[in-house]
Amino acid sequence: MKPMIHQGTINDISTYIALQRRDGFSHQYYLTPERLKRLIDRGELFFLAIPEGAPVGFASVDCEIRSQAHFLSVDKKYARRGIGSMLMKALMNEAKKQGHTRLCSHVEASSTKEVFLQKQGFIQVGYYKNRYGNGVDASIWEIAL
Ligand SMILES: CC(C)(COP(=O)(O)OP(=O)(O)OC[C@H]1O[C@@H](n2cnc3c(N)ncnc32)[C@H](O)[C@@H]1OP(=O)(O)O)[C@@H](O)C(=O)NCCC(=O)NCCS
Repeated sequence: MKPMIHQGTINDISTYIALQRRDGFSHQYYLTPERLKRLIDRGELFFLAIPEGAPVGFASVDCEIRSQAHFLSVDKKYARRGIGSMLMKALMNEAKKQGHTRLCSHVEASSTKEVFLQKQGFIQVGYYKNRYGNGVDASIWEIAL
């Protein structure tokens, strides 16, 4: 299966929300239409993976000051098929296009998300204790573009 990556628009807000709820993980924060509108207004760019007609994953990158992979979710029914990696590649390409030399990502410490980032070539550059105010720590990762 060859997923196709498309740039998303403000019209895809309900799709991002639905996909985040289908990724099989419990999140510290869930997306809302209001938050998504604010992020899009500030210039955050969203991408959708649409392999066979219906979107199965999305990702976003914030390139305002430094580039950060912000959201990335793949429908759990489509996990481990390379879709997350393709979306991450789209974020890297976009950050590079905008003149950035590094892409960073923050994830929950000791989670499978760290394994995913390592597989993409990210290296850990920091640790953030109690990142979310509920005792959950985060690790900070970067990749050179
Ligand atoms: C993390 C996530 C985006 C991965 O999406 P995906 O489409 O399944 O990822 P890929 O198929 O491209 O996986 C690439 C590699 O990452 C690693 N990986 C992905 N999911 C993993 C898991 N659950 N456990 C262990 N390793 C995992 C593997 O090394 C995998 O390669 P392999 O399948 O050849 O072993 C997806 O699980 C998800 O939506 N998670 C919830 C949201 C989230 O964590 N977002 C932040 C991501 S940084």
